[in-house]
Amino acid sequence: MPFHFAGKNYSGNAINSIKEIKSKKTALTDQYNVDSKGTAILTRDFTGLKSYSTILKKCLNASAEEIQTEVKQSGLKGRGGAGFPMAIKLETCRKTDADQRFIVCNADEGDPGAYSDRYLLEKQPHAVLVGMIIAGFLANANVGVIYIRAEYPESIEEINKVIKELIENNLAGDNIAESGFSFHFKMIKAQGAYICGEETALLSSIEGQRPEVRVRPPYPAQQGLFNLPTVVSNVETLANLPYIIENGGKHFASIGTSKSSGTKLISLDGYFNKPGMYEVDMGTSLSVVVNELGGGFREPVKAMHIGGPLGGLVPIHKINDLTVDFETFAKEGFLLGHASVVCIPEKFPLLLYIEHLFEFTAHESCGKCFPCRLGSTRGKEMLQKARTSDYKIDKQLFDDLLETLEIGSLCMLGGGLPLPVKNALDYFKEELKPHFQKTT
Ligand SMILES: Cc1cc2nc3c(=O)[nH]c(=O)nc-3n(C[C@H](O)[C@H](O)[C@H](O)COP(=O)(O)O)c2cc1C
Ligand code: SF4
Repeated sequence: MPFHFAGKNYSGNAINSIKEIKSKKTALTDQYNVDSKGTAILTRDFTGLKSYSTILKKCLNASAEEIQTEVKQSGLKGRGGAGFPMAIKLETCRKTDADQRFIVCNADEGDPGAYSDRYLLEKQPHAVLVGMIIAGFLANANVGVIYIRAEYPESIEEINKVIKELIENNLAGDNIAESGFSFHFKMIKAQGAYICGEETALLSSIEGQRPEVRVRPPYPAQQGLFNLPTVVSNVETLANLPYIIENGGKHFASIGTSKSSGTKLISLDGYFNKPGMYEVDMGTSLSVVVNELGGGFREPVKAMHIGGPLGGLVPIHKINDLTVDFETFAKEGFLLGHASVVCIPEKFPLLLYIEHLFEFTAHESCGKCFPCRLGSTRGKEMLQKARTSDYKIDKQLFDDLLETLEIGSLCMLGGGLPLPVKNALDYFKEELKPHFQKTT
């Protein structure tokens, strides 16, 4: 279980050294497994500054149209949750009339159990930053804002170090590698609100406003930061771009499945025998991730919450039905999301788990729309009352609440909450039944 102390993050075996860390106030080096099965794009060893310089020059010496064709052919979809095609965002931003455009790297990574962005920021910073420059070239944007959660101090330090290195080597800043293209980085330290990861709340936060979600359309690619066209992309999405430029869009599209190309990073939590960061080709069986890479569970687990708090609750018996790609997860009624895996042990009450999901949403809600602002609190109250007294929940009322959240919420914080709750109601009927009124 990861924890945070004196400005540093700890995970893995550090749990056994809490006393030492607290008393000596020393920082241990964070350690977790990193491995891949299939193509290593994001977990490959650092190929050297020179290789990134070659990629960047290849990109900047071509026309934006040629490079755009490669990205389109790659089929790259956003890795931050929604899976939206990257090429469309870049093209929309480029084609929207404006004097200035922005690239925003969303490194807020608030999903509990997710640390793949952190891994990339700290271990593959060149891929992330060069990816931002490539995106800037394609969108005709000269400013890249990198928005990193403050709980990742090591990531901020590493990214600042590499930005400096790129500038010193004329690979960032004015007139990059004499290409005529300029790209300037700006670092923003986020302050720890989950909603700031939502792209429009994030933009408001950068502008110094209250992080309230904005109504779409217009989408950020049309009207984003300071009302100017902005591509907001996840760290992992951007980190794929250098590989695409280096190897070509068709090659990238040949990895994974026809609709979900490339690879996916998956973060496994401490209930696995081998917790860590694993990269698999899209389309890899979930059982390979769980049993081979993760080494199975340390103790009996009844479900895995995959893709953050708004992702699906996958019961253990569904492992063999799932492959790691957007389409299979959606078809089976789940969500791949950012692909963090949080295990729910056999002994942990499901009612308490879903109560916690409502509580999390209530705490993190930006308050702009009432289904989420009020509905999350009402849901938490119902579940809490059922857990702590003889009160039985009216199933019809509860279903109505879920429907209101799902169709009436302005963003996926309120709109996505019903998914794991419905999964719990479907797959753990017997466990939850005693807390609901009997139906005739
Ligand atoms: C409540 C909420 C939190 C989110 N948090 C993140 C986040 O931490 N990182 C992220 O990349 N996307 C997050 N997203 C998704 C973003 O709104 C957006 O879709 C994403 O940054 C787009 O990048 P992509 O196309 O590369 O996936 C969140 C969405 C919601 C509704
Ligand atoms: S669903 Fe929640 S977080 Fe999203 S806009 Fe509505 S109140 Fe804000």
